[in-house]
Amino acid sequence: MSNTIIALKNIGYKYKNNTVALNNVNLNIPLGKRVALLGGNGAGKSTLMMLLNGILKPTSGCLEFQHTPYSYTKKRLFELRKNVGILFHEPDLQLIAPTVFEEISFGLINLGYNSTTVLNKVNETLISFNFSDLAHKSPHQLSSGQKKRVCLAAILAMEPNVIVCDEPTSSLDPHNSDIIFDALNQLNSIGKTIIISTHDVNQAYEWADFIVVMNNGEITISGTPEQVFANNDIIKQAGLKLPVIVDLCNFLGINSLPKNINELKKQLAFVPDFKTELTH
Ligand SMILES: Nc1ncnc2c1ncn2[C@@H]1O[C@H](COP(=O)(O)OP(=O)(O)OP(=O)(O)O)[C@@H](O)[C@H]1O
Ligand SMILES: [Mg+2]
Repeated sequence: MSNTIIALKNIGYKYKNNTVALNNVNLNIPLGKRVALLGGNGAGKSTLMMLLNGILKPTSGCLEFQHTPYSYTKKRLFELRKNVGILFHEPDLQLIAPTVFEEISFGLINLGYNSTTVLNKVNETLISFNFSDLAHKSPHQLSSGQKKRVCLAAILAMEPNVIVCDEPTSSLDPHNSDIIFDALNQLNSIGKTIIISTHDVNQAYEWADFIVVMNNGEITISGTPEQVFANNDIIKQAGLKLPVIVDLCNFLGINSLPKNINELKKQLAFVPDFKTELTH
């Protein structure tokens, strides 16, 4: 498919202790879209994400980036990681530098930019993330929300085409979640492909263009949110629930699913009984 940025072909992954984490996974990640990986604990989401930027190498099958098979030589991995940035679930695994400034510089230096370019890019990133006050603090002394934002800033400074985020907003308050999603959405609006993993079906329904449901190391369904959540049985088998909006619309017999709560309120305002309720 020409609009595929990363293709996974018959992927299997077995950890050293023989746990089979992925089994015959086939997936075309659509270019420039917002993709959500959904699945219960242990479904294989993080493993799949680590395969996307070559941290893990499949034990069977192969991946392709823009139709070119992944290669695991140092040089080709370097090229791949310029294109595919990953935000880990645990920021502490990602943070390595003594200051926020150096954390953001680190990847840029590795990419071979000269010192003036590094300085300019770090300063631009610090300003856009509102981090100027934190520049000389240790990332390890920040709150977990701030740490996640520093990790994301360090990735975004490298301007990858694909941004992979493993549970980007877990443990964040609504304000900090919005900041992370605003940054991701802004990148998506300029054509970057964003892939997140989450357990939050409501978030996935509202945010994603394309949803992939995983269960027990396999993809059980993928498609638009409307297509995926029309299959309640598969959603249940994956240990998930329907998004509240979908569940409510099913109950009310509303066929044209609204995208979010505001759209639902508007739709309900046109249903005579609800209109009376809302205006009194
Ligand atoms: N380092 C590891 N060594 C051995 N097995 C592992 C390792 N990491 C994960 N696994 C196993 O691989 C399977 C998939 O795990 P993975 O972390 O990919 O799931 P997940 O969907 O990200 O789960 P969660 O929602 O809890 O983060 C699980 O059975 C898990 O126990
Ligand atoms: Mg995980």
